[in-house]
Amino acid sequence: MSDIDTIERTILAAVGSAGDEAALETVRVSALGKKGSVSELLKTLGTMTPAERQTAGPAINGLKDRVNEALAARKAILRDEALTKRLAAEAVDVTLPVRRAPLETGRIHPVSQVIDEITAICSDLGFAIAEGPDIETDFYNFTALNFPVGHPAREMHDTFFFRPNAEGERLLLRTHTSPVQIRTMEKQKPPIRVVIPGRTYRQDSDQTHTPMFHQLEGLVIEEDTNIGHLKWVLQEFCKAFFEVDRVEMRFRPSFFPFTEPSMEVDIRCRRVGNEVRFGEGDDWLEILGCGMVHPNVLRHGGIDPDRYQGFAWGMGIDRIAMLKYGMPDLRAFFDADVRWLRHYGFRPLDLPTLAGGLSG
Ligand code: DAH
Repeated sequence: MSDIDTIERTILAAVGSAGDEAALETVRVSALGKKGSVSELLKTLGTMTPAERQTAGPAINGLKDRVNEALAARKAILRDEALTKRLAAEAVDVTLPVRRAPLETGRIHPVSQVIDEITAICSDLGFAIAEGPDIETDFYNFTALNFPVGHPAREMHDTFFFRPNAEGERLLLRTHTSPVQIRTMEKQKPPIRVVIPGRTYRQDSDQTHTPMFHQLEGLVIEEDTNIGHLKWVLQEFCKAFFEVDRVEMRFRPSFFPFTEPSMEVDIRCRRVGNEVRFGEGDDWLEILGCGMVHPNVLRHGGIDPDRYQGFAWGMGIDRIAMLKYGMPDLRAFFDADVRWLRHYGFRPLDLPTLAGGLSG
């Protein structure tokens, strides 16, 4: 009998300490399974005399019943606990604000936005987009653009040079998008009407200069294109870009080796805080350089200057972005600060179009 008591105590202790339903099942099998301790006891009944069986029978069956009850009770408790735990873990706070989708939180960088705006305007004016490499040769960046060797204009560009390569050639980071003029002429016969947005590099850093910045180059080559066309294109471009009905432009004589004549263009404006209003006021703001393509440049591009002529212009994309959207410090453009981007960035699905509005 004390055997039964010991077995009962052992089983009930194991039931009590089973931490989950799987552990409890192991306890059940070890007691009531085929080779379980209680089952083994039940088997002994068959070998007993009727007299022995009379007392042992109820005792062993009683043990079996109590074990079953204990198992059932523990099972109910464990199931309850598991459910409570799951409910706590999976609780949903319906008062929390809805999480915003990436499409709503992401922002387009102002430089990308402005390049999209320029692309929309220029394709409407009949221009194609051209591109060239950031790493250039001295030939494309300077020589082919009519910068004589040793000419001081080369120094003015504060060029980043690479170490000379095996052939002794010194590659460089392009200082302007103008080398793509030559690359385009080599690939394409006139008429040529392209705009070239891209990254450019100079050793310079202050509030309005960064070592990497963006330029937009324009190039038109035809048999009979002239300065009048250049003026019209720039005027239409500026009106569309700054989203005003009227701009007043001033063409000042200037010098670039790759154009003759060369001009710088200012637009009339009024400054209000960080913002600049165009088409009014007494201030003039320089926004671009332009001119008629120099015959030497056409020659370097494989185009006959006696038959064709062209005009070109170049301007700073970051600079016109700063003007249009009132952003005071260029360095912040490239700091990758999400707070800045959240403030000045654009919604991803508000694509600039001439019909739908450029800046949304
Ligand atoms: N490449 C010049 C610069 O970086 C800008 C420029 C001026 C480009 C006149 C032109 C041009 O195409 O005609 O300062």
